[in-house]
Amino acid sequence: MAKHPVVVYGASGYTGMLIMDWLIDQNIPFTAVARNAKRTKEMMAQRVVRLESANYEIIEAEHNVDALANAFRGAKVVCNTVGPFFNFGLAAVEAALKAGCHYIDTAGEQHFIRQVREQFGELYRQAGLLVSPSNAYMYSFAEIAAEVALETPGIDVLETATLTRGPRGAAGVTVGSTATIFEGYRQEACYLWDKKLELHAADASFTATTPDFLQAVFCLPWGGTSLPVYFEHDPRVRSCVSFVGFYDNNAMRMVHTLGQKWETEYKNLPREQQDAVLKQLVDSTTPSMPPRERTTLQRTVDVAVGRGQLAAVRATVHGVTPYISTGALQTAAAMKLIDGETAKVGFASGSKAFGHRYLLGFLEQRGLARASVSQL
Ligand SMILES: NC(=O)c1ccc[n+]([C@@H]2O[C@H](COP(=O)([O-])OP(=O)(O)OC[C@H]3O[C@@H](n4cnc5c(N)ncnc54)[C@H](OP(=O)(O)O)[C@@H]3O)[C@@H](O)[C@H]2O)c1
Repeated sequence: MAKHPVVVYGASGYTGMLIMDWLIDQNIPFTAVARNAKRTKEMMAQRVVRLESANYEIIEAEHNVDALANAFRGAKVVCNTVGPFFNFGLAAVEAALKAGCHYIDTAGEQHFIRQVREQFGELYRQAGLLVSPSNAYMYSFAEIAAEVALETPGIDVLETATLTRGPRGAAGVTVGSTATIFEGYRQEACYLWDKKLELHAADASFTATTPDFLQAVFCLPWGGTSLPVYFEHDPRVRSCVSFVGFYDNNAMRMVHTLGQKWETEYKNLPREQQDAVLKQLVDSTTPSMPPRERTTLQRTVDVAVGRGQLAAVRATVHGVTPYISTGALQTAAAMKLIDGETAKVGFASGSKAFGHRYLLGFLEQRGLARASVSQL
């Protein structure tokens, strides 16, 4: 049973520990939950900043609904970072509901987010609790840009691009994120077109041009992103197409080429054989936890172009250190939930539950983001 208001699940992981940094910065006591307490203690001692002044406990729990519900019970908010969420997410969503906690996570996987909405949205609403996947760099930054674009009257069509890079293309991506990227080959990806979710073609790609770069950026649907789901029932929006580019075109083309290989060679293999292919890809790409991000290396540009009949607008959110920003977003959300301040219960994005201007302000105040908007 948790004795503090915030649970961080996945407490031995890169992102879980960054959430703790920000919780400690805000003087919020937390319960760290993970499958291995000894490893968690060692990892936290190495990685969590200001741990010596933190008020926290560590609880070891197996990854199943009952064990997790027992660990979460007593808290107000669960911050879940155990991914790929396709594989592990639903058990934690169910456990948080059973324990009577609000649930937020760092998922970017559209298919999982749809499952959460369909299986748990109404149950959380009835319980007076919020269930809000994807309170993370991907895709809160793009959603903030989209919401800023929607402040212009008449906008009803959105295109968003999430453009980011690490030291060498996609390097700097964590073990959990790499597994999530490759696991995406098994999942369908949708965009919103005239109020309906439509499937992206398996080999879909886009070329994004923005004034931020001289070169065009090669982009992929990246599982579709959370935005088409969060805008599906939004009366302001008819269509939303979202894509992602690591602005190292070679790294992105490699992911695309592997995706095509998946379609021709691996798609019809039995699940265990696919698991082996994915494991080999993850092990060879990201063998261990990367170092903490640096503002000189990890930078991001999230763009939303909005159009209406005649209105047109471009909103851009420039950012740094997307994993560190993810920790900040989770903490910003947890602070609101601890105080009982949410505009929504049931299934809702961070922008809809807490307000995009609140989230943007939290990031701006900490030097993590800057938004600009221009009428076109
Ligand atoms: N959308 C975004 O912008 C964004 C940002 C950050 C992270 N994420 C997502 O968040 C997830 C975690 O990322 P990360 O950077 O923290 O990865 P990570 O460093 O690899 O950490 C993964 C965490 O999940 C735990 N875990 C893995 N398999 C588990 C299992 N079967 N049972 C219980 N716990 C398990 C790990 O525990 P052990 O130490 O015991 O293995 C660890 O605590 C990924 O899906 C990633 O894509 C998304």
